[in-house]
Amino acid sequence: MSGREKFALPPEVIAEQKRIIADIRLINEQSCSKGHARKKAFVETYGCQQNVSDSEILMGMLVSMGYDEASGKDDADIIIYNTCAVRENAELKVFGNLGALKHRKSKNPDLIIGVCGCMMQQKANADEIRRKYKHVDLVFGTHSLYYFPSLLMEVLKSRTPVIDVRQTDGAIAEDYPVRRGEGPCAWVSVMYGCNNFCSYCIVPYVRGRERSRDKEAIIAEVKTLASEGCKEITLLGQNVNSYGKDKGSDYDFADLLSDVCKVDGIERIRFMTSHPKDISDKLIEVMASNKKVCKQLHLPVQAGNNRVLRSMNRRYTKEEYLEKIAKVKAAMPDITLTTDIIVGFPGETKEEFEDTIDVLKKVRYDTIFSFIYSRRPGTPAAKMEDVLTDEQKKECFNRLLEVQDKISYEKNAALKDRELTVLTEGYSKTDSAVLTGRTDGGKIVNFKGDASLIGELVRVKITDVRTWSLIGEATE
Ligand code: SAH
Ligand code: SF4
Ligand code: F3S
Repeated sequence: MSGREKFALPPEVIAEQKRIIADIRLINEQSCSKGHARKKAFVETYGCQQNVSDSEILMGMLVSMGYDEASGKDDADIIIYNTCAVRENAELKVFGNLGALKHRKSKNPDLIIGVCGCMMQQKANADEIRRKYKHVDLVFGTHSLYYFPSLLMEVLKSRTPVIDVRQTDGAIAEDYPVRRGEGPCAWVSVMYGCNNFCSYCIVPYVRGRERSRDKEAIIAEVKTLASEGCKEITLLGQNVNSYGKDKGSDYDFADLLSDVCKVDGIERIRFMTSHPKDISDKLIEVMASNKKVCKQLHLPVQAGNNRVLRSMNRRYTKEEYLEKIAKVKAAMPDITLTTDIIVGFPGETKEEFEDTIDVLKKVRYDTIFSFIYSRRPGTPAAKMEDVLTDEQKKECFNRLLEVQDKISYEKNAALKDRELTVLTEGYSKTDSAVLTGRTDGGKIVNFKGDASLIGELVRVKITDVRTWSLIGEATE
């Protein structure tokens, strides 16, 4: 059975959900016509871009139901937390924030509180919410996203808690409304789920099996975005290099990338994430030969030691990884390289950690995203024993940052006095007189300029650098 047949939500299910969206809109309009203020919705997102993308669909549905987008939690009539389960920290934050809403709900029983996403796809978490957070009205997992309208309708009608954590391999549905963030950049999911089962990672358990969207649907979405003024898109998936495999087709991610480049109006294309074991020569070739593909690659290495990599079930060695990086650098000498690192994986010793430092020094990444290992119940690594103490893991982590900060700064310093093209995204969050945007390599550049430059590609001369960003002056 092809991916489409196995995962596609039947058209009658989508039609039913759209009918319910219209019914809720009617309820909201009737309430307004009686003089009540328009209701407002707020979605708070944790975790990765996949969740950001799901939240854009949730907000799209809510806006179609007649809700306005609230500016924050405090003025919202419906609050949804879209949660992440990848590390314990992310989970603790959600429980803390939910606890803080208890008082507000007791003062305003009409407030609707929902919790969804990866954490809720795990039954134990959903059960804990039901037991300890009785003020929560709606709990649903990642596989229930497309049923949100019917679940919300149930809450509105019954005013009793509704819980929907269905165990499936996941679904694909097209044509749901989407409410995107402002600015010239947009995220487009090309596939969902993950089949890799790295031994530390919860994602395959909460996001289901790999399933690719149809190429036609992706291209149509990109064309619509271009017609709306979008200039840069990031193609999203837990492992984009697996695109198409579930469909049993020869059309792969490299083919998709070259087809997306053909869409007029889109100037830049990024993608993430690539698994090192699957990055192909063909993909490197498409990246190198296509001007629109940004010269930036996020290639998570996780660890540098071969025993640790095996225990993580990453299915490549340090040498194989470095070989792929060498190929990428040979094809694109100016490429920006970034990675993810886990420090303190169970069993990792201080000597083994040195191999991670060695990878950093050999590759010279522009930025790394590093995490101390967090035990995820239900994953194979959760049963493995530690060698390092928490204190030792902290020491390794700090050393990692120290080594990397120096490299990041040096790599940025090499860009001083260069003129680069920046896509202006908006005003800087910390200084409203300064514009912010990104280079082709994905580096943040802050520079002075007026609002007319927002959404435009601007030539900027780099005048100063920081570890995390560049400072420049527009030259035209
Ligand atoms: N699919 C992507 C990203 C998945 S999650 C990939 O394969 O790269 C993002 C990052 O979180 C991972 O790359 C990993 O570095 C980190 N991560 C995942 N599980 C973790 C855990 N249990 N503890 C600490 N970090 C973890
Ligand atoms: Fe997790 Fe590995 Fe899948 Fe990435 S590839 S989501 S780290 S299991
Ligand atoms: Fe993403 Fe976190 Fe889920 S990293 S896929 S939101 S567990």
